[in-house]
Amino acid sequence: MKPLSEKFDLARREALAALDQATDSATVEQLRIDYLGRRGAIPALFREMGGLSPEQRPVVGQVANQAKTEIQAAVEEALQRLSDTATTATLDLNLDPTMPGRRRRVGKKHPVVQVMDEAIDIFRRMGFIVADGPDLETEYHNFDALNTPTDHPSRDRQDTFYLADGRLLRTQTSPVQIRVMESQEPPLRIVCPGRCFRRDTPDATHSMNFHQIEGLYVDRQVSLADLKATMTVFAHELLGSEVSVRFRPHFFPFTEPSLEYDFSCIMCGGKGCRVCKYSGWLEISGAGMVDPAVFQAVGYDPEKWTGYAFGMGIERIAMIRHAIGDIRMLYENDLRFLAQF
Ligand code: PHE
Repeated sequence: MKPLSEKFDLARREALAALDQATDSATVEQLRIDYLGRRGAIPALFREMGGLSPEQRPVVGQVANQAKTEIQAAVEEALQRLSDTATTATLDLNLDPTMPGRRRRVGKKHPVVQVMDEAIDIFRRMGFIVADGPDLETEYHNFDALNTPTDHPSRDRQDTFYLADGRLLRTQTSPVQIRVMESQEPPLRIVCPGRCFRRDTPDATHSMNFHQIEGLYVDRQVSLADLKATMTVFAHELLGSEVSVRFRPHFFPFTEPSLEYDFSCIMCGGKGCRVCKYSGWLEISGAGMVDPAVFQAVGYDPEKWTGYAFGMGIERIAMIRHAIGDIRMLYENDLRFLAQF
């Protein structure tokens, strides 16, 4: 037969578990009677204590008293808990379940961020690694190291935001090329997404703050054909395989030869429409083969290394993709506009 103290302990545990599970006060009352009432389990066990030896009695007595007080406390606690629930239940009756609920608006990615993320993803799949640089740049990284002559118009205070300490808000993501090449040896293949700033008067196609994604690939024997292939794959992945790419000669201080590339108009398929100003082509960005002077500035041997670079405006692509007529709409934060993307 089980020792008496074990029986007390078992009754205590059973009672506490049952009280914990109870969901209405009638059940609690019944449990109180079953365990603590005159004919209940605990008093019955107390009566058995008569048969104990004088040494055993105080030991079992302690377990017995503990069982009794714990069950009493648990009964109180259960009654308290159930009366709280009862109040809530009454309150609920005052609610009108036919009232429309509160709507929570779910956020979305901004169209500029969408294009940026997709572009990064496409270049990642082609083996490019994402690099980052500061928005506040030195004149050296934004202009000098990029082979930009001291009298170049883009350096003008009318075009560039300068700080009192001589630093500037970068006008392009190209300075990140310099920072990466200063700190790493070739070969490398990077893209740098980021914000750029120019002192333009805002209009339908200009904003003082816009985004670019820059690309740079340096290795042995990189050619224009590599650039063209990369841009073509990019165009197909981003806008569809029917898009064609064309290069036009251009000039940038940091590339030689330099070019601009266009995508065939995705609105009219190249036939000519308002979006492409009836030319069939959309101007996307600048690119070219890295000028040897740039390699010299970062300490790369121009006899050994070749590379291409490109930089494109993200807003421009978002506008083409969604037929947005005015760049300012992207920055007005009008939810009626943004909710469409
Ligand atoms: N940085 C140039 C611009 O902002 C674009 C460019 C990048 C051109 C890389 C050539 C190579 O217009």
